[in-house]
Amino acid sequence: MKTIIEPFRIKTVEPIRMSTREERERLMAAASYNLFNLHSDDVIIDLLTDSGTSAMSAAQQSALMGGDESYAGSPSFFRFEAAVKTLFPFKHVLPAHQGRAAEAILFSVLGGKGRSVPSNTHFDTTRANIEATGAEGVDLVIAEGLDPESLHPFKGNMDTQRLDAFLTANGAGVPCVMLTVTNNAGGGQPVSLENIRATAAVAHKHGKPFIIDGCRFAENAYFIKLREPGQAGRKVEDIVRDMFADADGMTMSAKKDAFANIGGWLALNDDALAQAARERLILTEGFPTYGGLAGRDLDAIAQGLKEIVDEDYLAYRLRTSAYIAERLEKLDVPTVKPSGGHAIFVDARRFLSHIPPLSYPGQSLAVALYLEGGIRSCEIGTVMFGQHPDGTETAAPMDLVRMAMPRRVYTQSHADYVVEVFERIAARKSSLRGFKIVWQPQRMRHFSARFAPL
Ligand code: F0G
Repeated sequence: MKTIIEPFRIKTVEPIRMSTREERERLMAAASYNLFNLHSDDVIIDLLTDSGTSAMSAAQQSALMGGDESYAGSPSFFRFEAAVKTLFPFKHVLPAHQGRAAEAILFSVLGGKGRSVPSNTHFDTTRANIEATGAEGVDLVIAEGLDPESLHPFKGNMDTQRLDAFLTANGAGVPCVMLTVTNNAGGGQPVSLENIRATAAVAHKHGKPFIIDGCRFAENAYFIKLREPGQAGRKVEDIVRDMFADADGMTMSAKKDAFANIGGWLALNDDALAQAARERLILTEGFPTYGGLAGRDLDAIAQGLKEIVDEDYLAYRLRTSAYIAERLEKLDVPTVKPSGGHAIFVDARRFLSHIPPLSYPGQSLAVALYLEGGIRSCEIGTVMFGQHPDGTETAAPMDLVRMAMPRRVYTQSHADYVVEVFERIAARKSSLRGFKIVWQPQRMRHFSARFAPL
């Protein structure tokens, strides 16, 4: 069939409150033109993140009621642990309340002043957790990964030659090598199985543990099935097992590819490292059989992991982003190509070329999407990355707007609506203006800065 349908029926619905443009203009001004300040019930289509925003299945909702809330030794933990180990056969699995908690625990053990941790591209929370220990995060993605126009099928790949050279020069200070699949910060781009194996081989040649940030592992595996020679006939679950076979551990946010609203884990093979992490876990998250989660959350994750590798779901998932990106391309709205798994990244700097980077074209587009159609997206550009600790400001390498798709939440008519909103904006884009910042905190300004239109 040409039409790839949503492979689910809807049993429970959450009404969307429709709003008028006048209302949204008032709300946007009251929120100082920062989309993080909006109340979510004033948003029609919320594409701020795909994290924790998935719709649970009937089976997950049922699993919630089976959750056992015992402090120690809950059967919910053992169901969770078994589901994790079915896909990722690591020796030790430590639950955590979300991905960044797993990162904080890992780097409390592996981080420290003078150390550095290479990856293809660290996600912000991973980098922040590394840097909070005094260590440094280093991004070594292939050159194509930084070019929005490149059609390379695996733009998330690690540059293994640079990694090898980096480890030769700085090996003594490197506690582990990381790899993020898919590469969220680089546009949701996948990493090939060949590259995962090559990265593991380089890490091991230098005697370093290899840790995967597995947030969107199922999307990555399906991209491998679609794009990597020799992988087409294989089951996604088998590809997932191969992706993690050479790794020594993983960090995970179950808010992504486990269909959960909260949760995560740290998995490790090394006994001593796992013991050190477990001690830290008890200090900050909880006893090792719940790790900051309710038993019911552990059960929701266990069931979610069975559902996420469903290929009909993954075909629909990847098609959604590709469908929106293709239709935007026809409207001459430039996007990062090829489209990633969880999100569409619009190149706002090219789309609004009359707005200079320091007048925040990404913010201008994000505000326009809200005013025109009540869509909430996220600027990933000069607002997010342009501020420096010494108080200066420079343009970020790119000014993007990310529209992240919550899993199983929106239908094709929601996607068509998003495209229609873009059509209207494209027709009068020369009238869009930039913004100035009227107040900002010392760091992470995108969350709370206040803006005024120019
Ligand atoms: N790693 C990656 C690749 C992520 O995308 C995220 C979260 C994390 C780690 C941290 O996980 O939120 O459970 O603590 N990304 C969200 C996003 C916030 O919107 O992209 P967390």
